[in-house]
Amino acid sequence: MRNPWLPIMLFFATQALLWSCKHEKVKNPVMTPVPCEVQDTLTYQGQIAPILSQNCFPCHVYPGSGGINIDNFTDVKAVALSGMLVQSIIHDTTYVIMPPPPQKLLDSCDVKRIKRWIQTGCKEF
Ligand code: HEC
Repeated sequence: MRNPWLPIMLFFATQALLWSCKHEKVKNPVMTPVPCEVQDTLTYQGQIAPILSQNCFPCHVYPGSGGINIDNFTDVKAVALSGMLVQSIIHDTTYVIMPPPPQKLLDSCDVKRIKRWIQTGCKEF
């Protein structure tokens, strides 16, 4: 039999999700330093998309929070080239810190990967 509470539960689940996408600016978050080997060639499909989907979804899937979409190559490349992608994950305080607390920040290794991907020309494949 169909659960009559389902629409109500879905409503609250959606509200909780939307609420979690609002956040306050917080200073001095701690990035976990982890030892790592970063490949010379990184690609969006290979290494970058998995990092982003794990850490930036569901807030930045179209229509993303703050007008930022991080769910496809073209938009990610644009955010990367604007400098905003790296600035937000290295917690440059002129940008809103991403991902917002209390969510775990990217570790130093993932940050290194994203920086190198941009330095090597934002390859898709
Ligand atoms: C819990 C939801 C959430 C997660 C997860 C999240 N963001 Fe955001 N992001 C937001 C919101 C909300 C804003 C708009 C912030 C504002 O304007 O105050 C935003 C804004 C941004 C901006 C624009 C920053 C600025 O100063 O204008 C960038 C870039 C960004 N996010 C990148 C990321 C990246 C990269 C990740 C993953 C590593 C991520 N976000 C994860 C909610 C999130």
